[in-house]
Amino acid sequence: MTNKNNYILSCNDIYKSYQMGATRLDVLRGVNLDVSRGEFVAVRGASGSGKSTLLHIFGALDTPDKGGVFFEGQSLARFSGGKINEFRNKKIGFVFQFYHLLDELTVLENVLLAKMAGASALGWFVASDAAKKRARQLLDEMGLSQRVRHRPFQLSGGERQRVAIARALMNEPDIVLADEPTGNLDSQTGSGILKVFEKLHRQGQTIVMVTHDERIAAKAQRVIKLADGRISAAY
Ligand SMILES: Nc1ncnc2c1ncn2[C@@H]1O[C@H](COP(=O)(O)OP(=O)(O)O)[C@@H](O)[C@H]1O
Ligand SMILES: [Mg+2]
Repeated sequence: MTNKNNYILSCNDIYKSYQMGATRLDVLRGVNLDVSRGEFVAVRGASGSGKSTLLHIFGALDTPDKGGVFFEGQSLARFSGGKINEFRNKKIGFVFQFYHLLDELTVLENVLLAKMAGASALGWFVASDAAKKRARQLLDEMGLSQRVRHRPFQLSGGERQRVAIARALMNEPDIVLADEPTGNLDSQTGSGILKVFEKLHRQGQTIVMVTHDERIAAKAQRVIKLADGRISAAY
């Protein structure tokens, strides 16, 4: 085993299966991946190859059957419940294919929600002015300063994904995990979203992006291919 302390995020010999009635589906069968701080890693693989499963395990949204995930060399399996929540909310920023925004809330509130998660009522009250300022600034950077009072259903797909990216960045995460963030967008809009990620990467953001789009993967610094439950190639 390599020294995991050198990496911001890594996983070691990850296995994950799903039991579906009498059959067992072995999705991940020994995945090893080390991500250095500041890297932009793309994970490619066919639909159903386990990309989302791997990303969820990386972000502690799911747990592996076997193997370990390490954040700055610390095993997530040893984190207390509170520490896991903090990892999920503050260290990781998640961007999903279908945005996962709440239509009941405005764009600004959706972004602010990331900050409210895990904060006490008093803590939130004290922090809220600063949080609103940061949320507005992020939305401004995403070109959405004229959309803060809109609700997600009033926005285009590309605009929704920009809101989701702003939400992911709200807590200044150490790592952004993006699951096919352009998968639901036309190619031109998808290129715009990809430019946002490239800019974040230039600013030093660590990014792990899952995609089955070869064109998009080509923009990443390192591409990893997932097939038959394992990393089959890296280039
Ligand atoms: N909760 C689950 N229960 C059963 N099977 C699942 C579950 N989640 C994913 N799968 C199956 O695991 C395989 C990998 O899924 P996924 O990680 O979503 O692949 P990808 O993101 O690469 O398309 C798929 O065949 C999928 O149907
Ligand atoms: Mg998926």
